[in-house]
Amino acid sequence: MGLTALCPGTFDPVTNGHLDIIGRAAGCFDAVLVGVLENPSKQPLFSVKERVAMLEEAVGDLSNVRVGAFRGLLVKYAKEEGAGPIVKGLRAVTDYEFEIQMAQMNHRLGGVETLFMPTSPRWSFLSSSLVKEVARFGGEVEGLVPDHVRKALVEKMGA
Ligand code: PNS
Repeated sequence: MGLTALCPGTFDPVTNGHLDIIGRAAGCFDAVLVGVLENPSKQPLFSVKERVAMLEEAVGDLSNVRVGAFRGLLVKYAKEEGAGPIVKGLRAVTDYEFEIQMAQMNHRLGGVETLFMPTSPRWSFLSSSLVKEVARFGGEVEGLVPDHVRKALVEKMGA
């Protein structure tokens, strides 16, 4: 049986940095499941349905990648889907501090392993939060997110 990597996140919205990690994971594993967290307490800009749809369009050319949504614990989702290890991108040491805590907690909760993949240097400054901030103030996000995501951002911001 092949291994399905689980790439989890909020993806509000998906960026080219996320897609870099997802694409590289797809080259390392038999399959990749992108897990979109439906977390109402985070008050995302895009609904979970919108985030999943944007991701599905973005990974459409990757035949071994599928997208799903989950609530609650990631390890529960991993077990239900038969997916693992978790694959996360690391941009800098600042990411590492929280990511190592989550990885250790997920291992303790469900014995699920986490593998870290270094973000490509060209995307090391990129985050969904920054993309939203730039778009909110009318800045150009072309080249940072797929074009359909850029359009969705412009529409959402009412620009
Ligand atoms: O894109 P993000 O917001 O950095 O992704 C964080 C995410 C979704 C991977 C993380 O918040 C998560 O796994 N949440 C699910 C709840 C959970 O399992 N918490 C305990 C893990 S330590």
